[in-house]
Amino acid sequence: MRSIIVDGPARLSGSVHVPGAKNSVLPILAASLLCTGTVVLRNVPRLTDVQAALEIHASLGCTAALHGHTVSICADGMRACDIPHSLAARMRSSVFYLAPLLARTGRAALAAPGGCDLGPRPVDIHIDGLCAMGAHVVQESGGASALTAPRGLHCADYTLRFPSVGATETLLMAACAARGVSVLRGVAVEPEVVDLARFLRSAGAEISGEGTRCITVRGRGALLGTQYDVCADRIVAATVLCAAAACGGEVIVDGCPARQLEPLVSLLRRAGCAVAALGTDSVALSSDGALRGLGLVQTGVYPAFPTDMAPLLGAAVLRADGISVIRDTIFPNRFVCAQGFAVFGARCGAAGESLVVSGVRSLNGAQAAAPDLRGGAALVIAAMSAHGESVIDNAHHIERGYEDISGLFTPLGAHLETACGCPCAV
Ligand code: EPZ
Repeated sequence: MRSIIVDGPARLSGSVHVPGAKNSVLPILAASLLCTGTVVLRNVPRLTDVQAALEIHASLGCTAALHGHTVSICADGMRACDIPHSLAARMRSSVFYLAPLLARTGRAALAAPGGCDLGPRPVDIHIDGLCAMGAHVVQESGGASALTAPRGLHCADYTLRFPSVGATETLLMAACAARGVSVLRGVAVEPEVVDLARFLRSAGAEISGEGTRCITVRGRGALLGTQYDVCADRIVAATVLCAAAACGGEVIVDGCPARQLEPLVSLLRRAGCAVAALGTDSVALSSDGALRGLGLVQTGVYPAFPTDMAPLLGAAVLRADGISVIRDTIFPNRFVCAQGFAVFGARCGAAGESLVVSGVRSLNGAQAAAPDLRGGAALVIAAMSAHGESVIDNAHHIERGYEDISGLFTPLGAHLETACGCPCAV
């Protein structure tokens, strides 16, 4: 078990260039199976989820190699169409392989996808949309799915019952390979959906409307190999901003479009931070660490305040003067990290879908376990603003979405190191 050891409190100053986005590169890696020839992706974050995706590609008979922050993939040798439990269970993003496998082989079998335990994470919209395009469910139980499309996929005019990010990405991939013109309505408009559409277009797909609630796709046969730069990770940018807000200091995050951070920026201003956009792709934040409570905050689908940023914002206001109530409308178990916050001395609790925080003057170092990816990052933020040494166990959750969280914050003045997780007295 790996752990993050933190010696707090820290004051953060400096600038961070935001790495490539986990939630963009993972669907794009799956979509590369739709291409003949070689796909080269740049600005790829070195994450354990990316490694898991490359192992899925290898298990299917594709070549996939990561050198630095560049991945090259060729699916021409693909010879399998099923993804075993040992690989599927490692991340939610294994679900993205259903569409390209169906499109290329007429069949797809996927054990239950893994991912953060944020509550029920069904894939019914993915499956329903694929069936609207001609797929048939052979088996669906316990989260595992097997579908066939013996006559290939055909176009559909399909409305998603909820703007699911993943289901939008699944159906966008399927529509690119389906015969005819598909119209997808009620889709997600997150930046990562737009990035996938741009990748597919660079490979020859005919797509319009991405970033709006209605996407139109003229399907065609195989797409072509391409080269593509993955967009910046807005959640990593948010992590740095929330950490500086919590600890105090002056940071600049660059490389991520400032407009993607606007909902968070307005909340950090409400808490008392000075935040300014420096051009289109850079945000500067200054905080004295003495914040005000936020009152009521609610997450929503993009462009609302995103669910992934909710635990990070919660960590930022643990020492704020006043009450903050952050309600997540997307995932029921988003705030399991509240138990970890309390170990540091925070006065908080998870009430239903909400995190309720009554700020305290100071936090003390403690040992806590990361419950999931963003909850783990939030505990690191709490530890950096606490007095004394902390140990955040189960760091493997954090490593799914952060290339090197110690290396992210140490240059800014924090004292973090990643350890083997040997039992340490705090
Ligand atoms: C993506 O998950 C992200 N993951 C999540 O980031 C992010 O929190 C989420 O979108 C929301 O923005 C990746 O992109 C790899 P959804 P996804 O489908 O696609 C329900 C992180 O920390 N739903 O938009 O799984 C679902 O249960 C991760 O980086 C159905 O009911 O999210 C949830 O309540 C965590 N049926 C809601 O929709 C379906 O078929 C939103 O889920 C699909 C989803």
